[in-house]
This record gives sequence, C-alpha cells and structure tokens, in this order.
Amino acid sequence: MWYYNIAMLINNDTIIKDDNPLIRRKSEDVVLPLKDEDRDLLMQMLKYVDDSTVPEIAEKENLRPAVGISAIQIGVPKKMTAIIIKDDEGNKLCEYALVNPKIISNSVEKACLSSGEGCLSVVEEHEGLVYRSLRVKVKAYDALKDENIIIKAEGYLAIVLQHELDHFKGILFYDRINKENPYFQLPDSTLID
Ligand code: CO
Repeated sequence: MWYYNIAMLINNDTIIKDDNPLIRRKSEDVVLPLKDEDRDLLMQMLKYVDDSTVPEIAEKENLRPAVGISAIQIGVPKKMTAIIIKDDEGNKLCEYALVNPKIISNSVEKACLSSGEGCLSVVEEHEGLVYRSLRVKVKAYDALKDENIIIKAEGYLAIVLQHELDHFKGILFYDRINKENPYFQLPDSTLID
C-alpha cells in the first residue's frame, strides 16, 4: 500500500493531527477475511494503546496516553479501531481490535464525560461537553477473537466507541461541543466521571 508500510512506527510524531486534511477523510470498509497487512496494522494500533498507558514505555517511545486509536489517525482510511480500557492499577477492563464496527442501536438517553474528551489527533485544548448516547450496541469483527461480535456498551465504553467510530466519518470530538455554551447541561443526561 502506498500510504503506510508495516514497519511504520506509531508515536506522537507520526499520528496525524487535525491540521492535516486527511483526518477528515471518510474511512472505508475493510475486506474480510482480514489481510495480513490489515491485521498487522491493527495489532500495532492495539500495542500503541496498551503501551501508551505505561509511563516508562510512553516516555521512552514518545506515546501520548490513549484508550483508543483509529486507523485514519495513522493515515489509513480503513474502518479499524483499537480500544483498551484499564483500571487505576493498569489491569485491562476490556480490549478490542475492531474491524468494520458499526452502531446497530443506541439509546435516546445521552451522556458525556464530565471532564470533556481528548484525542491523539487534537493538540489544542477544546473545553466543553460532548454529548453522546449513554448506551450503544456495536457489531464488528473482532481481530483478537477472530469472530463477529456484538458489544453492548454503557457509559465510558459507549462514549469511547462513539468517539472512535466518529473518526471513520472524519468527525472530531470538538465538532460536537456547543459553540455558544460549551458546558450546556442537557436535561436528563448522565455525567460520567
Ligand atoms: Co480521537
């Protein structure tokens, strides 16, 4: 492929930022069965996310802490995303290497992270609340299990999934912040700490 090679290093310097028009590009479905080059890339993305929350590795390899990364953030417009959520002790609460994830249903009830969102592709601070569905159901091919899965997510994981899937459409979290009133409190919504 012209746009990346398998030995590519994913770090804070090589991750595409929002000053690069590529970050707005729409991602395409990945052909299944998964090709080796796609699997390799997805596993490297997963490794980035895993290593990024280990301070010694993150410092040495120039990684910014993250819970998720999508392929377009390394310049590859394919629907692939890697997510790892850990507890305060660094134990994995969930881990996904998703291919062609798609939201198949979502709650009307909204939620947002009380401290707002961040993104590996966004350097500047963008303060404000990002409202999303409190619950989503996502179907995907999971490259870790090598099978089709359905994730029923609520709260933090649901927010992370929606953030990552927005990348497939070229949408960044701050596009969803209320410009006039960034801390607008949506009635009947859930604040997640
Ligand atoms: Co992001």
